[in-house]
Order: sequence, then structure tokens, then C-alpha cells
Amino acid sequence: MPLVDRYQRIHTNLRISVTDRCNIRCFYCMPDEAIRFLPQRQILTFEEITRLATVFARLGIDQIRLTGGEPLVRVELPSLVRLLVNIPGVRDLALTTNGILLAEHAAELHSAGLHRLNISLDALDPAVFEQIARRRGLDQVLAGIEAAISAGFKKIRLNAVSIRGLTESEVVPLARYARARGLELRFIEYMPLDAEGNWDRGQVLCGADVRAMIECAVAPLWPAERSDPSQPAVDYVYADGGGRVGFINPVTQAFCQDCNRLRVTAEGQLRNCLFSTTEWDAKALLRGGASDDELAELIQECVLHKKPGHGIDTPDFVQPARAMYQIGG
Ligand code: 5AD
Ligand code: SF4
Repeated sequence: MPLVDRYQRIHTNLRISVTDRCNIRCFYCMPDEAIRFLPQRQILTFEEITRLATVFARLGIDQIRLTGGEPLVRVELPSLVRLLVNIPGVRDLALTTNGILLAEHAAELHSAGLHRLNISLDALDPAVFEQIARRRGLDQVLAGIEAAISAGFKKIRLNAVSIRGLTESEVVPLARYARARGLELRFIEYMPLDAEGNWDRGQVLCGADVRAMIECAVAPLWPAERSDPSQPAVDYVYADGGGRVGFINPVTQAFCQDCNRLRVTAEGQLRNCLFSTTEWDAKALLRGGASDDELAELIQECVLHKKPGHGIDTPDFVQPARAMYQIGG
């Protein structure tokens, strides 16, 4: 039984948050002070995550991404990678990281069987990096990227959140940096998922503007062939053959109609959307002696309640109570 919702969307992609903790404090994701992180006993164990993922895989999930918080602050993450790559049906296991701890862990993650890496890099100017992350760390991230390349990762993608009035100066340097290393780069529009509720439509630096800046200063871009319609990014290739740039435009070009994603938070709650205001409690079932069939029913229930779209641009949009670090990127 595949996971089909009321709008005929088939769900094959699962994002699992392994922690709500992080070693930096990006303002679009986390509060700076007074954070109450989850106590360890409320976070799913590797065994619980693996069991839940196995049920998801039985229902047709074939792609899994580990997120956070920052997944690499979770102790022994490579052990989880080893468990998940062995689940029958999982053909793609990826990780989204801020890169701070990557230099230490890249080689072990690669040998554990991790297939793909997304590394967040919003700025190459240390001052802008610090304004966003509210912590230092750019040098560690850059070292992490080099370590990932050396460890043999073939598909490394850089993710940059675009914020009007803040990241314009970073667009062209990021494009040149990624192009020089043969890394794919994706610009993501700033979404209303900050902890302080300060998001403002005027802070969204839209993908179209970022693309124009790159075309003007780096090289012309051509639309790339769309191989996977459920991919949220609209990809471009440099006309001169020098690489690829993608744009994830959740605000100006919602892609909800093709969404194939489900999410599990670090505390084992199922979500059918980043912007869900409801969650389904898988942890209670996992810890209450439920059968795999009962878990599968809960997952189906979550999928059946998925809304057609996030409605960010509609007047009755409500920002979810959870911020990005509590959901999983
Ligand atoms: N808007 C857009 N992207 C975000 N991310 C985190 N919070 C937001 C937000 N409010 C991105 C990070 C990272 C991934 C985990 O999600 O930059 O790439
Ligand atoms: Fe940490 Fe990622 Fe959130 Fe930044 S976006 S605070 S790196 S979890």
C-alpha cells in the first residue's frame, strides 16, 4: 500500500530529525537564548528510528534524509547510518548538516554508507555568516566541505538561504565558490519557520532575483531538464557547461502540488508538512508496545490529513508553533 494522500500525491521521501540541538544559532531556525532542548529520553533511540523507518519503507518510502537541529551533534550518528542503509527498500540515504563538525566525521559517514550530503552555507563573508549563525564557524564549515570532498562523497550540495538586505553580497561569491569546486548550489527562499516569529515577507530574497544576479556577474544560465518532478528545486545549468545552480522557491513558487515528503521529529512525531499544525504521535506507539501494522496505520492517517499546500501567501496563514530546529529541515 503506497502512501497516497487525498490529492493523489505519492509519498516516497522521509526526513528524520535526529536531534533538536545545534552548535550554532541561525536566526531563521532557532532562538538565540533560552532554548529548552528536549531531554534525551524524549528523543527516539536509533533502534526506534530504525524500526519506524522500516515500517515507512514497507509503505513505499525509498529515500531518507537525516536532519536536525544539527545531526552531527548526535553521538554515534554513523551507527544510525549503518542501520538505515540496510533497510530493504531504502535506495537513497542523505544527510543535511551545517558542516561545523563535518571535518571530524566525513570519512566515517562515507564508509558507513551514506550516499549524499547537503551542507548549509549561506555566506562566505565571516561577518555575514556570524550575523546569520549568531556564532563563529565559517572556517570549520569550509574545512568540512573540503573533508567531504576528500572523503569521496560524489554528490555534495550546498544550500544557501536567501535573505533580502543580508545575503545579496554573498550570491556571486557563493556561485563562484561552488562552480570552482564542481559542487551543486541551491538557493532557498527564507521561510516563516524562525523561532521568534520575526519573519516578514519583505525579507524574502526571491530565487528569480538571485538568478538574475548570477547571470549578470557569473555566466548565463539555462533551465536544466526536469528529471524528478517531486524535486522542489528548479535547476539551471551554466550555458558554458560550468556546473549547476538550483532555486528552491517555497514562497514565490510553491511546489506543494508535487510534494512527496513526510517528516519525523526528533521526539517521534509524524508531520505531513513543514507547516503542519498537527502531529501524529509515533513515539507513543513505539514505546507502548504497538505492532508494525498499528504504526503503519498511524502513518496512513498522517498522510490522509495532508493539506493541499502551505498557504504562506494567503491571509489566513498561521506560522507553525514549532520552529525549524524542532521540525527538521
Ligand atoms: N527558511 C529557509 N530555509 C531554512 N533552513 C532552516 N530554516 C530555514 C528557513 N526559515 C534551511 C537551512 C538548512 C536546512 C536545514 O534548512 O539553511 O539548509
Ligand atoms: Fe543549526 Fe541548521 Fe538551525 Fe542553523 S539552520 S541553527 S545550522 S539546525
